[in-house]
Amino acid sequence: MKICCIGAGYVGGPTMAMIAKQCPEIPVHVVDMNQERIDAWNSDRLPIYEPGLDEIVREARGRNLTFSTQVDQAIAEADMIFISVNTPTKTFGMGAGRAANLEFIEKCARQIARNAKGHKIVVEKSTLPVRTAEAVKRILSSECSGATFDVLSNPEFLAEGTAIEDLLNPDRVLIGGESEAAINALSDVYANWIGRERILTTNLWSSELSKLTANAFLAQRVSSINAISALCEATGADVDEVARAIGTDSRIGPKFLKSSVGFGGSCFQKDILNLVYLCEHFGLDQVAAYWEQVVTMNDHQKTRFSERIVKTMFNTVSNKKLAIWGFAFKKDTNDTRESAAIYICRDLLRERAQLTIYDPKVPEATIRRDLLAACTDMHGHVNADDQALIENNVTVVNDCYEASRDAHAIAVLTEWDEFKEVDFQKIYASMHRPSFLFDGRNLLDHPKLLECGFEIHAIGKSPEQRSNN
Ligand code: NAD
Ligand code: UGA
Repeated sequence: MKICCIGAGYVGGPTMAMIAKQCPEIPVHVVDMNQERIDAWNSDRLPIYEPGLDEIVREARGRNLTFSTQVDQAIAEADMIFISVNTPTKTFGMGAGRAANLEFIEKCARQIARNAKGHKIVVEKSTLPVRTAEAVKRILSSECSGATFDVLSNPEFLAEGTAIEDLLNPDRVLIGGESEAAINALSDVYANWIGRERILTTNLWSSELSKLTANAFLAQRVSSINAISALCEATGADVDEVARAIGTDSRIGPKFLKSSVGFGGSCFQKDILNLVYLCEHFGLDQVAAYWEQVVTMNDHQKTRFSERIVKTMFNTVSNKKLAIWGFAFKKDTNDTRESAAIYICRDLLRERAQLTIYDPKVPEATIRRDLLAACTDMHGHVNADDQALIENNVTVVNDCYEASRDAHAIAVLTEWDEFKEVDFQKIYASMHRPSFLFDGRNLLDHPKLLECGFEIHAIGKSPEQRSNN
């Protein structure tokens, strides 16, 4: 058995590293068309930050884990081919802004068809609209090369920041397919470290749809608690207390009830919009509207946060220095795709704030690129005002202290653990008065900060300040 994976991204890289670690007898070849990414996978500075990943790659690389750009050769040699390429939201044409862009999937299928000989098991690892396997099967059989194929759906449920733990000990592995032999071959790979009782098998369409549904349900919980956070702020209830109270109901459960500045990441929004598009396609307009509201609520949460900052700071942040703590979409990742921080920073820049941004893992070039992208219209234009604001009003620094010096306010946008450990007295001493702290993650020790003198505005909580301020 030889495995190849097309796409060396946040899913392909860690997933294949784990298979290679757990199955030392199986050669695993990860390929990508992006030379720079492959070079990084072959270096000491991996292209993605994920706790525990370095050790696993170091153990397996050169033994049975290879990274290269030799896509054709890897396809020809493999018995099982995972497709783990990106499936972003379409930005043009039919379904723009909603449907998944499947051009990378189609290209992979055609490349597999051209290079395959004998029998291959093709595994959809990317998240795909339900019934994509039908198209993949048609493309694969169109080349008439004599090769035969089985297509399986094996969606990935890992979350960034905890990918290694999720891969090591998943709640379940889902395999959808028609051929029992192919399903067994893939199950046998996972059974090297995962109990058979956690390997679920379904038909192809259930598997494809389960992935979109899982993400929709998870995102829906975050939007639900975020909706309640607005009501908490208006009424004096505390969203963390409400989450704890409802989370102890075993029918609801405690996970994914942490109110925040809004969910980010490359998948929640993309997958819900994809689900919305599918529902509309099948004429299920009420169902589409139901799920779309999860995204609408998320956009509202981000806007609400930046508006709250401006209103609290006497209705103007123009030329005021604001310290932004965190830019990644969650802690323990260098990924910023769809991070709430991007949109909050953009809106604050348009209010003419001076932003000083610090994130432990996100480089300056990524921050500037993301802000520019957030100001880019459908035709690829960035207006001169936005461009000037990004150039002149954004400074990226190396720690929380530098970010906060001479600042009027701090906004915590990512829940990095190191933010809890800083010397808040020192930070407070270096800031203007009043010293506002907007905790977009309800991360910090608010009583301690109040003692220091901060005025605190946290998600889903009433504002707090020391009574003698
Ligand atoms: P990514 O953008 O990090 O990686 C995709 C890689 O595929 C890129 O490096 C790109 O160069 C490569 N690629 C695209 N077309 C190619 C081709 N024809 N030949 C060779 N290489 C090609 O994406 P990702 O975050 O790894 O996501 C991949 C898929 O997995 C998506 O469908 C996503 O929805 C799904 N998913 C992602 C996560 C996550 O946490 N990021 C979790 C579960 C599922
Ligand atoms: C999510 C799912 O959790 C994974 O199961 C799935 O495989 C993946 O999407 C995917 O398909 O890409 P991920 O986006 O990496 O994983 O990270 P999450 O932990 O789900 O967080 C997503 C966003 O929601 C983050 O911005 C996070 O801060 C936010 N969030 C999460 C909250 O605001 N509150 C919560 O209680 C949980």
